[in-house]
Amino acid sequence: MCGIVGIVSSNTNVVPLLVRSLKRLEYRGYDSAGFAFIIEGKLVVLKDKGYIDHVVKKYNVLSLYSNIGIAHTRWATHGQPSKINAHPHTDCKGLIAVVHNGIISNYLELKRQLEEKGHVFKSETDTEVIAHILEEYIIGEGLTPLQALHKLVKILKGTYAVALLYANTPNRIYFAKNVSPLILAVSPTYGLLSSDIPSLIEYSRKIVVVEDGEYGFVEPGNIVLYKDGRPVNWRPRIHVVNWSVADIEKAGYPHFMLKEIMEQPRALYDTYSGILADENVVRAAKLIVESSKVFVTGAGTSYHAGLTATYYFARVANQLPHAFISSEAELYADLASEDTVLIAISQSGETIDTLKAVRLFKKRGAKIIAISNVIGSAIPREADITVYTRAGPEIGVAATKTYLTQILVLQHIAFHVGFLRGLYSESELKNYIKLLGQAPKAVEQSLQRASPHINRLAMRLHREEHMYILGRLLGAFLALEAALKIKEVSYIHAEAYPAGESKHGPIALVHQGFPTIFIGTPPAHIVEKIASNIEEMMSRGAFTVLIGLSCYEDVKANFKLLLGPCDEYLAPYYIMPALQLLAYRLAVLRGYDPDKPRNLAKTVTVE
Ligand code: F6R
Repeated sequence: MCGIVGIVSSNTNVVPLLVRSLKRLEYRGYDSAGFAFIIEGKLVVLKDKGYIDHVVKKYNVLSLYSNIGIAHTRWATHGQPSKINAHPHTDCKGLIAVVHNGIISNYLELKRQLEEKGHVFKSETDTEVIAHILEEYIIGEGLTPLQALHKLVKILKGTYAVALLYANTPNRIYFAKNVSPLILAVSPTYGLLSSDIPSLIEYSRKIVVVEDGEYGFVEPGNIVLYKDGRPVNWRPRIHVVNWSVADIEKAGYPHFMLKEIMEQPRALYDTYSGILADENVVRAAKLIVESSKVFVTGAGTSYHAGLTATYYFARVANQLPHAFISSEAELYADLASEDTVLIAISQSGETIDTLKAVRLFKKRGAKIIAISNVIGSAIPREADITVYTRAGPEIGVAATKTYLTQILVLQHIAFHVGFLRGLYSESELKNYIKLLGQAPKAVEQSLQRASPHINRLAMRLHREEHMYILGRLLGAFLALEAALKIKEVSYIHAEAYPAGESKHGPIALVHQGFPTIFIGTPPAHIVEKIASNIEEMMSRGAFTVLIGLSCYEDVKANFKLLLGPCDEYLAPYYIMPALQLLAYRLAVLRGYDPDKPRNLAKTVTVE
């Protein structure tokens, strides 16, 4: 959803650093990219449509020398991907260069006013208004850049994380923020800002999250932060992150998606150990027990983790929270009140739809429990309680390791709710929690066992354009996530629905060889039903695949892969890694880059 980064140093060449940092933000969007530097007192802007590597090569960016620069990788919202619409955008005089993540909702009105004053616009973007407004304030009215930013944040509407260079202050990168994420990093030598932590981690692990309405500048070894015309003390807000550079590199894997699938045992182990020491799990469970209505929300994969959580809440806590897709929040927020809890799931903590859902529920007095992978991100900041997953940075656009860690956290909360409700004893609770400790091992075994079979299956399926993915109860929720993974990275149309639903319509599409993947989950009494659903499909010529657990031993399918014991709590950890691998292999066999699915961005910060 666009990534911005800025680095300034007093005496080093920041050009290679900026290129590296921008590459680490590429997951946020990659239809165009650009850089602005100040070289010998003049702004130099280099940008084009295409990947960052293309822009770097085209302009031989790495041959430049500058101690200050900003950069942008774009996911188009206003104006098609093109060189003209790529960021940075400049003012009429070429003294101010701006990069922006977000959407300025009142840009048409602002643009009209600026055009009336004689400003000439080069692009179709909303962002360009920012450069011209600052030109008015700084060059026209003689304000300092800080005074200009103070005025700017008052008139801009919408969402923005903005970084800018002004040719006359060659040691400062200015910034302003509303809703879209913006991170500063504390360093004795650099001034550093970015949309996300991984792009700065090589230079500093001390992070300051910029709040809405704040603006200021970074310069070598210093941060200056303002809000409403007054300085803000940012030092008490420093977070120290423990991610390493190795965490954000591919570590020998061809793609981040594969690396992140393979590192799930570690991600689950860290999350499990973290949860055991995290009192917020019990606090969250208490809040749920004390409330009369519980909703769960998220977008995409996080929503699917939420759906899976409803299954476990029903099974172990005798409660069925209502799960909804966060962009649909309006309908559900109307039912919220002070005794309502919303569990908001977002790996990035920045997804605007989920953030807006949180705000709607808060307005009604509801309490918010956030599940997130990014410390200090927007949703945890607005939540009453946050339980963090500890998956490490997820760079691949398709969520994999964060999904299973979210389920692990939610299962823990569900078990605690069941215990607090008196459904089982403390020693039973301990046994359940101990069982969840097997999740990392389950994933490890599943990946080892599945890998060669999934390669064969992917060979059979990679030329298909459509497939069904079916399951019952828990399996129906896992099927939704499998279908999303396959769709987004391999562009095969994979449709998921509860297996019993076939005969109510979808089976009409089935013809000779039509691929239908069944997810074989517990409880044991659904095995027979799944078996007869498979029969129905086979008798119509479908190519049936069964990916499941040992209770499906006697069930027949054209291709069968059983990955572990029939345990309903560990089922996601045995089954999902194989389906993630399948999505990955299908993408690669079809010649696509699974780390850069078309039209997608990792974090969606526009509605
Ligand atoms: C799918 C995927 C997306 C995200 C969704 C929510 O692989 O990654 O569907 O799950 O955009 O993102 P977060 O969890 O950051 O709120």
